[in-house]
Amino acid sequence: MKNKSALVTGITGQDGAYLAKLLLDKGYAVHGLHARRSTDTLWRLRELGIANEVNLIEGDLTDLSSTIRSMEQSRADEVYNLGAQSFVGTSWGQPVLTANVTGVGALNVLEAVRIVNPKARFYQASTSEMFGLIQEAMQSETTPFYPRSPYGVAKLYAHWMTVNYRESFGLHASSGILFNHESPLRGIEFVTRKVTDAVSRIKQGQQKELRLGNIDAKRDWGFAGDYVEAMWLMLQQEVADDYVVATGQTTTVRDMCRIAFAHVGLNHEDHVVIDPKFYRPAEVEVLLGNPAKAKAKLGWTASTDLQTLITMMVDADMRRVSKE
Ligand code: NAP
Ligand code: GDD
Repeated sequence: MKNKSALVTGITGQDGAYLAKLLLDKGYAVHGLHARRSTDTLWRLRELGIANEVNLIEGDLTDLSSTIRSMEQSRADEVYNLGAQSFVGTSWGQPVLTANVTGVGALNVLEAVRIVNPKARFYQASTSEMFGLIQEAMQSETTPFYPRSPYGVAKLYAHWMTVNYRESFGLHASSGILFNHESPLRGIEFVTRKVTDAVSRIKQGQQKELRLGNIDAKRDWGFAGDYVEAMWLMLQQEVADDYVVATGQTTTVRDMCRIAFAHVGLNHEDHVVIDPKFYRPAEVEVLLGNPAKAKAKLGWTASTDLQTLITMMVDADMRRVSKE
């Protein structure tokens, strides 16, 4: 039997790298839509030792001919749309770009699937940011959405287009409504990695303080390595559907800092400085997911708690900083 082929957009991102590794380990031929940049974006694939094992197809999510060509070249059986302008903070400064990449980009991938191979299975990287100003204390697949950023609004458009293509054209199109997930491969602008990098620099005498915004915000944080497994499981189901993927625990940014600093024997209160520059025009104060459906239907549960996750990230940054 021929090996399955997968196309991953956003393959150079945190989740793209972990997902590519998971698919390679399962015997897939892995293709990635790769946007041209003037700087090197392959460091995550290199860290996982798979940069030479994936086939990169040059293209951009905002360009329909790119997504069609990547579907044709990859002959993909499964398509994972992970590409996005994914940083919430940036989305107020670049709302139109965010709409084009994160919103219409998903439509370009759906169109490519519909035109080239409507039998291919499609995964959309939806997000807990769609819940925004939360309408229920614990958010599930039936909780009403209320996005609070141009990013959240763009993702909601992509989410409903996924549902619409499933209902209009019968595509096997699923959305994973994933809550925050982190790892040593997380981008440095996101709060967990910003903290673990700073902790390592402060411990090694390169930095004195860490400037943060709203540290009372609460997030349901899991490990990205666990979450890509849920993406794959969704596409193995007979019927396409939408799933919340979360740990079911929520923690403040402040307590996440406490864990990170304490791991190297420091007190966060001695180093964290509040800087209004990092406050957002509209904040998502708290997110807490209910992963009951993913557990019941996919047999998936998060296996990494926040303490383990943050200490893993601090350890990785301590090694990186000491090598610089
Ligand atoms: P990430 O690290 O920011 O990766 C984003 C990826 O999208 C990168 O590979 C980036 O390529 C690519 N990309 C950006 N603009 C593009 C364009 N115009 N054309 C083609 N590719 C483009 O994000 P992540 O944390 O892995 O998240 C993966 C997906 O899940 C994203 O859609 C994100 O919004 C969503 N999500 C993430 C979380 C989370 O907590 N991590 C939670 C829920 C949903 P470059 O490297 O070249 O910039
Ligand atoms: N980035 C950042 N930097 N966030 C800060 C800071 C800071 O200095 N100080 C406080 N925060 C707060 C933010 O205001 C937010 O409430 C929380 O920390 C988490 O911020 P991020 O780590 O930037 O993540 P996010 O929750 O906004 O978005 C991430 O998760 C979404 C899923 O809920 C991203 O990965 C999105 O792409 C994803 O959809």
